[in-house]
Amino acid sequence: MGKPKSGETVVVSAAAGAVGSIVCQIAKIKGCHVVGIAGSDEKCDWLRNDLGVDSAINYKSEDVLAALKKYCSNGIDIYFENVGGEILDAALTLMNKFGRIPVCGVISMYNDWSVPEPKMLKNILMKRLTVQGFILLDYLHRMEESLQALSQWIAEGKIQYRVDIVDGIENAPTALSKLFTGENQGKLLIQTSKVES
Ligand SMILES: NC(=O)c1ccc[n+]([C@@H]2O[C@H](COP(=O)([O-])OP(=O)(O)OC[C@H]3O[C@@H](n4cnc5c(N)ncnc54)[C@H](OP(=O)(O)O)[C@@H]3O)[C@@H](O)[C@H]2O)c1
Repeated sequence: MGKPKSGETVVVSAAAGAVGSIVCQIAKIKGCHVVGIAGSDEKCDWLRNDLGVDSAINYKSEDVLAALKKYCSNGIDIYFENVGGEILDAALTLMNKFGRIPVCGVISMYNDWSVPEPKMLKNILMKRLTVQGFILLDYLHRMEESLQALSQWIAEGKIQYRVDIVDGIENAPTALSKLFTGENQGKLLIQTSKVES
C-alpha cells in the first residue's frame, strides 16, 4: 500500500511494536531510509542497533517534529500510521508531494477523546497524498504469500521479532493495557493453556 521504492524515506510510528517493527525491517529490505518513532530509549536502541533503522525518535522525551526534520532531510515519502494524534500532525507537515500514508491504527485516539484532532490535514490536499486505511482481514487471501516472505526473511536473518507472552486468560485485561502504556516488548500474546509433554 505504501509502494516503497529504494531510496525513499519511510517513517513508522509505534515502530518497536509488533506491526511497526516488521514494517521498519521490510522498508529496510526494500532499500528505504527508515526512521522509527517509539516510547522509550530501550525501544529506540533496539530499533537502531538490532533492527538497523537509520534513526529512532523517543516521542516521550524528544520534540518529534524537530527530530523528524533532522532525520528526514529529504522529506517523508511514506508515513506508516499506527498512532494518530500529534505524531500524525508532525508527519503530515513533512510529507513530500504524492506521498503515501497507510493507516494501520490510531492507538493514541482509541480511548482518549482529549487527543486533539490533526491540524495538518490540509497537507493531504496541498501535497496530493494518498491516505488509505486497511484492516488485515481484507488481506487474508494473501496470508500464504506473507508467511512465505516473512519466513524466508527470518531464516535469512533479515527480520527479527520479539514476543511478549502473558500467562493465563485471567490476566488478559491487565495484559491488554500494556498496549496502551507501551509496556509490551513486541507482539503481545496471552497463553491460555499449556501443552502437556
Ligand atoms: N489495521 C489492522 O488490521 C491492524 C491489525 C493489528 C494492529 N493494528 C493497529 O496497529 C497498531 C500497532 O498494533 P500492535 O498490535 O502492533 O501493537 P504494538 O505496537 O505491539 O503495541 C502498541 C504500542 O503502541 C504504542 N502506543 C500506545 N499508546 C500510544 C500513544 N498514545 N502514542 C504513541 N504510541 C502509543 C506503545 O509503544 P510505545 O512504547 O512506542 O509508546 C505500544 O507498545 C495499533 O494502532 C493497532 O490498533 C491494526
